[in-house]
Amino acid sequence: MSKILEVKNLVTKFYTLDGVVNAVNGVSFDLEEGETLAIVGESGSGKSVTMMSLLGLIPMPPGKIETGTAFFNGDDGRHDLLQMSPEKLRDVRGGQIGFVFQDPISTLNPILTVGEQISEVLTRHVMSKSDAKEATLKLLTQVGIPDPELRYNAFPFQFSGGMRQRVVIAIAIACTPKIIIADEPTTALDVTVQAQIIDLFKRLRSALDVAVIWITHDLGVVAGIAERVLVMYGGRPVEIALVNDLYEHPQHPYTVGLLRALPRMDAQESDRLVSIKGSPPDLLIPVKHCSFAWRCEYAFDRCWQQIPPLITVGEQHQISCFYDLDKGGPRDG
Ligand SMILES: Nc1ncnc2c1ncn2[C@@H]1O[C@H](COP(=O)(O)OP(=O)(O)OP(=O)(O)O)[C@@H](O)[C@H]1O
Ligand SMILES: [Mg+2]
Repeated sequence: MSKILEVKNLVTKFYTLDGVVNAVNGVSFDLEEGETLAIVGESGSGKSVTMMSLLGLIPMPPGKIETGTAFFNGDDGRHDLLQMSPEKLRDVRGGQIGFVFQDPISTLNPILTVGEQISEVLTRHVMSKSDAKEATLKLLTQVGIPDPELRYNAFPFQFSGGMRQRVVIAIAIACTPKIIIADEPTTALDVTVQAQIIDLFKRLRSALDVAVIWITHDLGVVAGIAERVLVMYGGRPVEIALVNDLYEHPQHPYTVGLLRALPRMDAQESDRLVSIKGSPPDLLIPVKHCSFAWRCEYAFDRCWQQIPPLITVGEQHQISCFYDLDKGGPRDG
C-alpha cells in the first residue's frame, strides 16, 4: 500500500478579539490508499479545523495556517495541499477529494434541484453537460435514493434528513475521488438512519476503493467503520492505532478514559460508566506541557514541563504520553 496523504506538523490558529485560539497544535498523520481512518475527539479538539485546513476552507482572517505540510498523491503527482493555489485546490476539492459534512442542509443549495447540484459537480470536474444527467441518475441509484428520475427534479427541502445526506454523499463520490473526508456525517440523524448511512459508506468504500477520513466524537461507532483511529485532544493527536489494538490495549490515559465512558455489550451489571473528570483545555491559553495533564490521574513532573512527542509503542501504534500504563510508571527516556 502507498500513502495517499501525509500530514506533518499542521498548526492552525484563529486571531480573534478575545485572543489567539490555538485550535490545531501540531497534527501529523498518514492515510494509506483505500483505508479508513477515524479521527475521534471531544467537541473543540480541532477535528474539523484540521480537515478544513487541508481543504483550504479556513476563513482567513481570523484563521491562519502557521506551519505544516500535507502531501497529497493525486492524479498529477505528489503536491502539498497547503501550498496549492486557491484555484488548484478548488479543483482537487470536490474532484479528487470529496467531502461530507455534518449538516446536509448547509451543504446543499436550497434553490437548486438535487439533480442540478450533482450534475454541476460532474460538469465542473469531469464530463460534458449531456452526459451528466445520466451519470447523476446512476449516482442517485448508487446512494440508495429510490425513483431517481422523479427525485432528480426535487429540491433539498423535499427530502428527509437521511435522504439529503445521501445526496451529499452522491456529490462527494461523483468524481470518483481518492479520498472522502466525512466530518460527523451521521450526527444530525436519528439512530436507525445513522446505521443506514454507515452501511452505505461501507458499501461505497469497497465499491470505489476510496480512502476515507471519518471524523466523529463517538468512539462507539468507530469499530464498525475504520481500520485505524487517531484520537485527538487539545488540537493534537494523543494516540494513533489499529482499531482493535486501540480497543483492546489503549495506551494513552485519555483513550482509556474515553473507552471507560462507553457502554459495552459485555459489561457486568455492576460495571459503571465513568466519565473523564474535568473539562477540555481552554484553547486561548497556549500550553507548553501535556494538555491532558490537568485531567490525568498519572501526571507527574515531566508532563508539566514539556509536550510529549508522538512515539511508537507497537506496530502501527503511536502515543504522545510520558507515562507507561503497562509498567505503571514513567516511561524511560
Ligand atoms: N472561525 C473560527 N474562529 C475562531 N475560532 C474558531 C473558528 N473555527 C473554529 N474555532 C475554534 O477552534 C477550536 C477547534 O474547533 P473544531 O471545530 O475543529 O472542533 P471539533 O473537534 O471539530 O469539535 P466538534 O466535535 O464540536 O465538531 C474550537 O475552540 C473552535 O471554537
Ligand atoms: Mg467539528
